[in-house]
Amino acid sequence: MNIGLIIYSQTGNTRSVAEKLKAKLSSSGHSAVIDEIVISGNSPAQPGKFELKIVPDHGSYDSVIFGSPVQAFSLNPVMKAYMEKLPVLTGKKVGIFVTKQLPLLQAGGTGAIAHMKKACEAKGANVVGTEIVVWSEKKRDKTLKQCVENLSKLF
Ligand SMILES: Cc1cc2nc3c(=O)[nH]c(=O)nc-3n(C[C@H](O)[C@H](O)[C@H](O)COP(=O)(O)O)c2cc1C
Repeated sequence: MNIGLIIYSQTGNTRSVAEKLKAKLSSSGHSAVIDEIVISGNSPAQPGKFELKIVPDHGSYDSVIFGSPVQAFSLNPVMKAYMEKLPVLTGKKVGIFVTKQLPLLQAGGTGAIAHMKKACEAKGANVVGTEIVVWSEKKRDKTLKQCVENLSKLF
């Protein structure tokens, strides 16, 4: 299966999860490509103060995994902007993950996942799995491994 890992990463955490996913999916015989959203403008991105410079097109992938950081207790504004432009995903299997720092449940992770899930489902996607990786956790390596296992076995 040809899988696109469409991500936005500001400081590298989300990218490092995508790299591990790519390695796992490739070792299972899939073709996996990391396709990054790139912006021009301020970093960290503030709503209305950046433009999407590179907008990955999921058209050539059989399935997609979207990955994003949490920002300000919500989905990162760059991924929010990308989700608003999302073309039709009818019939495609989709996985979603977010990375975040704060261990609290209220710190934006579940809301960010819900935002992406809703946007993908509105375009006809079959969202098969979602994961949250808390970067500050002592057990981060374990959570990360679990995230990679859980998402990669769905494809
Ligand atoms: C401006 C800004 C706001 C953030 N807000 C939150 C937040 O509300 N909750 C949280 O858990 N982490 C928050 N974080 C931490 C990031 O979500 C976390 O470091 C993430 O893994 C970064 O991913 P990246 O390295 O791929 O950019 C914030 C980071 C930045 C820079």
